Parts: sequence; C-alpha cells; structure tokens
Amino acid sequence: MANLPPSLSMGTPFGGPSTSAAGAPANKDRNLASAEQLVLDLSNPELRENALLELSKKRELFQDLAPLLWNSFGTIAALLQEIVSIYSVLAPPNLTPAQSNRVCNSLALLQIPDTLISCFHTLQCVASHSDTRMLFLKAHIPLYLYPFLNTTSKSRPFEYLRLTSLGVIGALVKVDDTEVISFLLSTEIIPLCLRTMEMGSELSKTVATFIVQKILLDDVGMDYICTTAERFFAVGRVLGNMVQSLVEQPSPRLLKHIIRCYLRLSDNPRACAALGSCLPDSLRDGTFSNCLREDQIARRWLQQLVHNVGVGRVPSHQGGGFEHML
Ligand code: TRP
Repeated sequence: MANLPPSLSMGTPFGGPSTSAAGAPANKDRNLASAEQLVLDLSNPELRENALLELSKKRELFQDLAPLLWNSFGTIAALLQEIVSIYSVLAPPNLTPAQSNRVCNSLALLQIPDTLISCFHTLQCVASHSDTRMLFLKAHIPLYLYPFLNTTSKSRPFEYLRLTSLGVIGALVKVDDTEVISFLLSTEIIPLCLRTMEMGSELSKTVATFIVQKILLDDVGMDYICTTAERFFAVGRVLGNMVQSLVEQPSPRLLKHIIRCYLRLSDNPRACAALGSCLPDSLRDGTFSNCLREDQIARRWLQQLVHNVGVGRVPSHQGGGFEHML
C-alpha cells in the first residue's frame, strides 16, 4: 500500500488542496470528503453495512472512488470477506447430496443481502477504472467471483449472483485490452460463460455472450477459441442452442451479440468452413427479420455472416475445416 492517498493517512480531504478554491464546484469537495468517510467506515464492522450501501448507491457521483477504494487500508479485504462469507451456502463441503440440496433450497428461499450486491457493485467500480483495472487483475480478484458463475441453480438468488458477478467481468472487458483477455482466458472464463449462456436468464445470457464476443474480437481470444475443434464446437453448440431458444422467445439484444460472435468466428477460415454445416438455418431463412427490424447494424452483420459462410464453405474432403482434427 505504498500509494495510500494522503487523505487517508493524514486526514486531509481526498484530492489534495481544495479544488473549490480554483473554481470547481464546492459540492465535488463535499462528495470526496463523504466518500472518504464512507471508505473509512468500511473497516468498522458496525458501520460497514451502511457504508457499503451508500458507496454503491453513489458510486457514479464519486469520480475517483476506485483508486480510493483500492489504496485505502483493508477496504478490498473487507469486500472480499463479505463475498467469501456466502461461499459456504453456495457449495457446502462434506455434505451428502440430500443435505447439499437442502442448503441450496435454503439459499433459494433466502434473500440475497443488499450488502453483498453492494460489494459486487463496488468491485465493479474498481474493475472499470483505468488506474485500478490492472491492479485488480494482478491481485486475481475476478477469481473470487468464479464460484458464483459455477452454480447451476436457476432460482432467483443464484441467478442474481451470477448476473452481478458477470457484471464485474463485463466491466473488465468493456475496455479492449488484450492483457485483460489473456488473464480471463488463463483462468478458464470461457467454460463459465458457456454455462451461463446455457442455463442463465435472458439478462445473464446477454452479459455472458457479450463477454464471449469481446474475447472473440481480440486476436488472442479468437486464436484461443479456434485452436482446437473441441473449443470451437463447444462455443458453436451453445450459440446454436441459444438461437434455437430465441425462435420461441425473441430477444433482439441477445440475438445481436450472438450474431456478432458468429460473424467474428467467420473471419477464421477453419471456423468459417465449419459454420457452413453448424450455423442454424433460422439465421439464414429470415426467421429473425421481425426481431431485427429495428436494428440495421445487426441486420447488416447477419447479412455479412451469411455471405461469409456461403463463400467460405469448403467441402470437407478438402480438409479446410475442423473435420480432420476430430
Ligand atoms: N480447459 C478447457 C480447454 O482448454 C477449457 C474449455 C472448456 C474451453 N470448454 C471450452 C475453452 C470451450 C474454449 C472453449 O479446452
């Protein structure tokens, strides 16, 4: 903690000399001072709950909240402590399946505490800020969220925990940075995303697909997924299943991310050839023209995808696709 903000070690307002003297709105100073107090409150177990709720509510107002959270003593540890404390309910060790089922049901009935959700939102703020993003990764903080992505219950509390965890990962990949992508790949985020894309709600499916899209748009991510037939087909199968379910229950925004993933895959010659046989027919036959009627960009992506797959189709006996690798 070498770069502790002077404010927290010496009791002066965060941000150094008063900016209001230089003509900045006085209420910016007031915001910083109250943010600073709330951050200090986090390390007091009695004040923590209120501080968390206030900080996560006001996180948009405090511009440099993320470095303040990161550099202050014990703050991140306090957030992680809150998050880790729910693990035992998530996947209880040493329980018989019947017992474990009972605990899962008890979480299903349980209300997720607001403070826990505030912890995720506060971490999301640290993941979003350019000064703290890499520190957040180097400390492997995303790994603390993975247990929530590894759950299979469709009940509301589990679903909500998945969604808020994915929100943090989504914030990380929003800024295109190949270091972020490499970190996520090395921690096996893809199978976790695929799981949510298979069994999550529409909302968490959308965030998970967005993350996969961002990974694919990165060259390292694209190579990672297209390097083996198993990986490609695992992704292709999940995308295909989602398309299938969208035929019954359309969601324009989810469909848009799916199309972008397919379109990107079609940039890789082998993947493009394989899509010739595994791209769902419903994407080629106009099934979704109504769903996409208000999104010209998505329509154009779909058109381009169908074109690429049509042109790139290589008969399997020529060995252009993944077939020879299976
Ligand atoms: N370790 C697995 C692999 O490298 C991770 C994985 C599972 C995976 N399913 C995947 C990676 C689908 C990419 C796509 O293959």
